[in-house]
Amino acid sequence: MNNVDTAGADAGPLTVPIWDLPVRLFHWSLVASVATSWATAELGWMGIHFLSGYTILILLLFRLGWGIVGSHPARFASFIKGPRAALDHLRELRLPPDQAPPVLGHNPLGGWMVVTLLLVLLIQAGTGLFTSDDIMVDGPLVDYVSSAVVKSLSTVHRLLFKLLFALAAIHVGVVAAYLMVRRENLIRPMITGRKAIPAGMPVEAPRTSGLLSAAAVFALAVTLVVLLLRTA
Ligand code: HEM
Repeated sequence: MNNVDTAGADAGPLTVPIWDLPVRLFHWSLVASVATSWATAELGWMGIHFLSGYTILILLLFRLGWGIVGSHPARFASFIKGPRAALDHLRELRLPPDQAPPVLGHNPLGGWMVVTLLLVLLIQAGTGLFTSDDIMVDGPLVDYVSSAVVKSLSTVHRLLFKLLFALAAIHVGVVAAYLMVRRENLIRPMITGRKAIPAGMPVEAPRTSGLLSAAAVFALAVTLVVLLLRTA
């Protein structure tokens, strides 16, 4: 951490940078791509479904890389915590909002939800590459595995979407509950990048990684997916 910011008592609400531009672009592009994948599967527009699936794969590979070299709050090491931290956070939720310590990043419970969402999305996008409807539409890698494997992975791809839908609904529900019950707006930081902290509270602005690093990680993610598809 660097750039010590201190919220002065009469300085009004102070905001600190939490989510860097790459994380915000990742999140909202992911939301748009997941919605597109769902809609195009329903409508049978498989060309666009494939494109949104590849986009999700690129976004996920980017996020995995950014979770290692990205800004401090984006790093897995900063938000994957053990069960004790998760229980402590549950206890803190019983405190009035103005007495609970502010969380700059994913809280320990939210961190596990993020990991779960990323894993399920990765399996969903990965199995799509090996999915076939047995009639007209084949994922790009179906020829590399046996028909029994294609059958199993196609089933996983179809069923897992229901789990993904449930997880996304819980995720959005929890974000809405923070807003309505605890008056804590988690959505604004995911749009503006900055989070308001209580006046008078000393905090350190998180260490950030540059956009050039993000561009390099993104280029690597695109290259990996292009290479994967070229082998098909
Ligand atoms: C309009 C609906 C949505 C809203 C308002 C929303 C809002 C948010 C917010 C506020 C956070 C940060 C939570 C925190 O402060 O810890 C977040 C993180 C996240 N959301 Fe959503 N979300 C939405 C839909 C989705 C969907 C559909 C998915 C995927 C299926 C998703 C996946 C994620 C992931 C993976 C993160 C972690 C971001 C990161 O660390 O890179 N979200 N979301």
